[in-house]
Amino acid sequence: KKDSINELPQTNLPLTDNALIVLAKRYLKKDKQGRVAEKPEEMFERVAGAIAEADLLYDKGADIESLKEKFYELMTTFKFMPNSPTLMNAGRELGQLSACFVLPIEDSIESIFEAVKHTAMIHKSGGGTGFSFSRIRPEGDRVKTTHGVASGPISFMTIFDVATETIKQGGTRRGANMGILRVDHPDIEKFITAKTQTDRLNNFNISVALTEKFMEAVEKGGDYSLINPRTGEEVKKISASYIFDKIVASAWASGEPGIVFLDRINRSNPTPHLGDIESTNPCGEQPLLPYESCNLGSINLGRFVNNGEIDYEDLKETVWYAVHFLDNVIDVNKFPIKKIEEMTKRTRKIGLGVMGFADMLIKLGIPYNSKEAVQVAEEVMDFIDRESKEASAELAKIRGNFPAYKGSIYDNPETPYMRNATTTTIAPTGTISIIAGASSGIEPLFAVSFIRRVLDGTELIEAHPEFVNALKERGLYSHELMEKIAGSGSLQDIDEVPEDLKKIFVTSMDVSPREHIEIQAAFQRHTDNAVSKTINFPEKATEEDIRTAYILAWKEGLKGLTIYRYGSRPVQVLQLKKKE
Ligand code: CDP
Repeated sequence: KKDSINELPQTNLPLTDNALIVLAKRYLKKDKQGRVAEKPEEMFERVAGAIAEADLLYDKGADIESLKEKFYELMTTFKFMPNSPTLMNAGRELGQLSACFVLPIEDSIESIFEAVKHTAMIHKSGGGTGFSFSRIRPEGDRVKTTHGVASGPISFMTIFDVATETIKQGGTRRGANMGILRVDHPDIEKFITAKTQTDRLNNFNISVALTEKFMEAVEKGGDYSLINPRTGEEVKKISASYIFDKIVASAWASGEPGIVFLDRINRSNPTPHLGDIESTNPCGEQPLLPYESCNLGSINLGRFVNNGEIDYEDLKETVWYAVHFLDNVIDVNKFPIKKIEEMTKRTRKIGLGVMGFADMLIKLGIPYNSKEAVQVAEEVMDFIDRESKEASAELAKIRGNFPAYKGSIYDNPETPYMRNATTTTIAPTGTISIIAGASSGIEPLFAVSFIRRVLDGTELIEAHPEFVNALKERGLYSHELMEKIAGSGSLQDIDEVPEDLKKIFVTSMDVSPREHIEIQAAFQRHTDNAVSKTINFPEKATEEDIRTAYILAWKEGLKGLTIYRYGSRPVQVLQLKKKE
């Protein structure tokens, strides 16, 4: 362990070893021999400088230096982080800064393979791609030109999967895909079990797009129609509950497919005049139109608690700078293809979200699984959402509205100015939370002490710093205790830990699915786009438990849901230390 620490980059920033490992692996510039040739502070300078420069497009005399300093300060105090591609690529030749893309797939070989090509280009640059496969004609359907039979959407998905697998080696990070199929597509049954039936599609998250019609049929116990997308004709009627149960059974067994409520997503589509939304990005938090891309950034809430109170003044300032930062990203971004640049610049969507929510609650002394936590979620996100819109409107007064403003939901006298068609998204913050030393996204702590498996298999042992402090203060800290805790994940059955600490340091497994969903719903109510969140279930959860959660998610107004039953997948990103 010592040796590997000696090789870590030198820095004056208070970065954890885990952060340094991640930065050295993927983010910092390397020389020709592959050695790290950039300090973390140089990386943040590179990013701050490149993003600040966009101000010159609007004001030749803009004070770039002080803006750069401000951006640098936000990142190096870990109050705000842009998504990974921005950290990796800003101010460098590649220059692709967005995490999220959606590509259209029409029902033709030409369109499918054009999408494969575009996917490769996006993955090479560190972005992730989402697609709807719903337009592709079902397996066994007619192919006019060849008089053959169609192979169906699932077989075409494997082509994207293999392409992603291959590009992985040359790219900056492992590519990720979202594959979506409408619940009324004739191949839906095959899609639901696509990942459990083969060892393919490992580079895909899959989600079923549920319609309101379908959900109503589930509630009433009725049938719904499967429609051939090529002809628009009904192929057959099928029991909605039968399909719903199949989704539930597969999710119970493997965590997939997830679900997205497509009609609901389209009801909050800010630019319906540009078309319907068919898909989200890979982790589900960002619905986008075909060829749209979005860059994300997250505020680290753990940094905004002073003396047991939320520092709203500081939070407000950070939101305003973050919106400015993310809007600038669109202008300095080098887009992988022209069409994406055009589409992205019409709506100028940005996705400001949060990480470190669990850290914030711990500092406030509020258990994650409590009514107060839901209230904090509601208050904080409402504040961020409102301030982000004010900041976007201020920018619009100088820079102009997003070009597709006319005909959008903002096109009314109450909101005459809007620079960005959306401002808020809650990302998973898988890697940037490691860099910032924060709890990820809006998740509870996964465990108080645990092994984290990052990127391609590296294992890291971690313990929550606030917990370590609390134990040390009371003279209770010992290596044996940390090991014991890492073995179980939860503190609840560990006698050495005082009751008050057990209440505050709850982990995802101490939180019931209903409580998880309530937190997600609280954030969703104040977020334009969607919310990335995993609803954790204990290993012994039943299919009925999962069914109940899906129905609750629908009733609570979520845009989608991802569940995970402990132990149901062989490789987990976060894994408890195995008991020997
Ligand atoms: O923390 P970081 O900025 O690296 O990413 P994240 O918040 O965990 O994920 C945000 C988005 O980045 C995902 O929804 C994907 O669109 C994309 N992503 C990807 O393409 N490939 C990955 N390996 C991870 C994330």
